[in-house]
Amino acid sequence: MDPAAKKLALRAINYGLHILTSTNGTEYGAGGVNWISQASFDPPLVMAAVKADSGSAAIIGETGTFAVNVLGADQLDIGKAFFRSTSVEGDQINGHGFEAGPETGAPLLTETAYWFECRVTDTVARGDHTVYVAEVVNAGVRDESVTPLVLRDTGMNYGG
Ligand SMILES: Cc1cc2nc3c(=O)[nH]c(=O)nc-3n(C[C@H](O)[C@H](O)[C@H](O)COP(=O)(O)O)c2cc1C
Repeated sequence: MDPAAKKLALRAINYGLHILTSTNGTEYGAGGVNWISQASFDPPLVMAAVKADSGSAAIIGETGTFAVNVLGADQLDIGKAFFRSTSVEGDQINGHGFEAGPETGAPLLTETAYWFECRVTDTVARGDHTVYVAEVVNAGVRDESVTPLVLRDTGMNYGG
């Protein structure tokens, strides 16, 4: 395989950008992630690939739950706050307001328009990221006029 072609071909996949959150009640995980997709209508499944050695993967492994907050087109600044380690102070996570998801307790960012909570059904611990297949058990829309962010439009890459 040509490594340069592999990199370019994989980077040709289009992605959004999301804040994937989790908690075990005392510790919190929250990261900017693009490797997320729906995977079934019935039941409603998604798949998410999370860095195997991350704090988020440790918490999801323990609780089997997480939430996804979808960033809007003008919310890259929020995304950038979640490319680093997670810190919670009061009702702020990495400087952004959140509330506990009703089904999972995972943080729901109050500034993002779309969110869903997930319960893991299957875990594939294969490469440097662990793939979670998870059922969507709750979802909410704060503002349906918001257009989700497209990772390519930001000039950032995570893939290849
Ligand atoms: C553009 C971009 C996309 C990212 N996508 C993912 C992803 O899909 N999965 C992932 O595990 N980490 C992804 N990351 C890295 C995480 O944002 C980062 O490692 C994480 O916030 C650190 O969390 P931790 O404290 O749990 O280790 C991405 C980073 C960037 C800059």
